[in-house]
Amino acid sequence: MTARIIDGKAFAADVRAQVAEGVAQVAREAGRKPGLAVVLVGEDPASAVYVRSKGKATVAAGMESIEHRLPADTTQDMLERLVDQLNADPAVDGILVQLPLPGHLDESAIITRIDPDKDVDGFHPVNAGRLATGLPGFVPCTPYGCLLLLRDVLGDLSGKDAVVIGRSNIVGKPMAQLLIGDSCTVTVAHSRTRDLPAVVKRADIVVAAVGRAKMVKPDWIKPGATLIDVGINRTDEGLVGDIDPACADVAGAMTPVPGGVGPMTIAVLLRNTLVSAARREG
Ligand code: GUN
Repeated sequence: MTARIIDGKAFAADVRAQVAEGVAQVAREAGRKPGLAVVLVGEDPASAVYVRSKGKATVAAGMESIEHRLPADTTQDMLERLVDQLNADPAVDGILVQLPLPGHLDESAIITRIDPDKDVDGFHPVNAGRLATGLPGFVPCTPYGCLLLLRDVLGDLSGKDAVVIGRSNIVGKPMAQLLIGDSCTVTVAHSRTRDLPAVVKRADIVVAAVGRAKMVKPDWIKPGATLIDVGINRTDEGLVGDIDPACADVAGAMTPVPGGVGPMTIAVLLRNTLVSAARREG
């Protein structure tokens, strides 16, 4: 079997076009553009690239992009004051503090400082709790983007066996919650999982989010399974995912790296910001 390659770029473009329509409607009705504030502390080159592309996409969707670039020696107190100011600013519908923060800053304290109703990243413990209990709130962008791709490929996910590899707060845990919400039978595997190949072999759906280049091998894959690769690993061969591309010989469908999950993350971020603005104005 040769897997269908899931075109995340095209799907994300559709989502972004829908968001742009919603943005135009909010702008007409409320007389203002939705605003996304992005905070970057320090000079991490990868973070700078992400922040630049988020800013561009925000403007392309018709929203206001409010960028705050702070020096690497910014103190906890300065950053918390900026978050307080953005929480109080009626022109700001969404706040994103780009991670990772420099080591001297307390990441968890900063995330918790953000107003949960402006937390378009979905990282605030209140939003994690809402997701876990089925209440409306903001869902982290990358796992929600993965869910949209899975629904598009498979339709109803009910009863599918899903394996999520990775247990991070940003991807693995919320991904598992979302799949449970869609009535999958979910296994969360991680570095201490025994016999990972055997665990993966049972799965109709595999979401890999570990950050290890080409870790998931073709002989682990159940024929016809749908594979979602969240990994972005910089190697001598360039950007590679967590899933060996040779898995395409066994899988039914899989996302490429790049051009799979990555573009969906930004599309969902814009969508979350629109939802926040619509709630605020509604
Ligand atoms: N760093 C890498 N991905 C993300 C993300 O989705 N949100 C934030 N805030 N930081 C990140």
